[in-house]
Amino acid sequence: MSITVRVPAKVNVQLAVGPARPDGFHDLANVFLAVSLHDEVTATRADALRVTCEGPDADRVPLDRTNLAARAAELLAARHGITPDVHLHIAKDIPVAGGMAGGSADGAAALLACDALWGTGASRAELLDICAELGSDVPFSLVGGAALGTGRGERLTEIPLGGTFHWVFAVADGGLSTPAVYAEFDRLTPDAPEPVASPALLDALRTGDTTALAGALANDLQPAALSLRPSLADTLAAGTGAGALAGIVSGSGPTTAFLVKDAEAAEAVAAALVASGTCRTARTATSPAPGARVLTA
Ligand code: C5P
Repeated sequence: MSITVRVPAKVNVQLAVGPARPDGFHDLANVFLAVSLHDEVTATRADALRVTCEGPDADRVPLDRTNLAARAAELLAARHGITPDVHLHIAKDIPVAGGMAGGSADGAAALLACDALWGTGASRAELLDICAELGSDVPFSLVGGAALGTGRGERLTEIPLGGTFHWVFAVADGGLSTPAVYAEFDRLTPDAPEPVASPALLDALRTGDTTALAGALANDLQPAALSLRPSLADTLAAGTGAGALAGIVSGSGPTTAFLVKDAEAAEAVAAALVASGTCRTARTATSPAPGARVLTA
């Protein structure tokens, strides 16, 4: 028997970052939006824990115990006193190490798949708890839609969405290390204020107002990502120059996200971004997208 779970990528429409905490993390006001780029994780009974991956970036995905999918299986198994003997196969379509929570998505998907495969019957609260243990962005991958993440981003409040938003994502060559971007943020922002969610941005999401959302997009990690990867400024300029309403670094980068008015504009901006030579590839997507869910049993 196999269980397949489909899970979305995310973009942070607002990422407000506070000062570093004693535990090294940063308090955030992190507004997540799930987008229609997906990974699928299939869990099958096996003699031992094993992770495999297919997809254009598969060679950049670690297949050892550092993979969040493997860690999710281990955490769930440990809590329920079973051995995590499972083959986890990841069909990867979310850009790797791109600031779109691809690794987090696989963790949430593997957790849901193993829970169904093993019949552990974990409650939603337990699943969310394990997600938070796996990483700050993992709970959102389970929940999907739109949500405000506080604490280190793991405490979620759902945000109702009033419409569909159209996006273009410019995928950069290579990744950016999330801890390195936060360290650069600390260097550039010695007196970071407490993070607060923007009322204008939350309103734009609730009313489905693309123009208002474009005006409210904000990422406090963007200067740090640009400092470590100055060429991202060229990508941002290429996307807005091609007609995007706004462009922003996605999370800790290096993927850049462009909000556009409709599907037609998305195709045009994606083509212009690829032609500009300032990114490796460009993908179009819409939001909202649902969180991790079982496809087959
Ligand atoms: O939680 P996660 O494992 O995804 O975090 C990866 C790294 O990103 C952390 O080790 C930390 O350096 C940084 N981080 C942070 N504050 C957060 C979330 C992540 O400093 N709220």
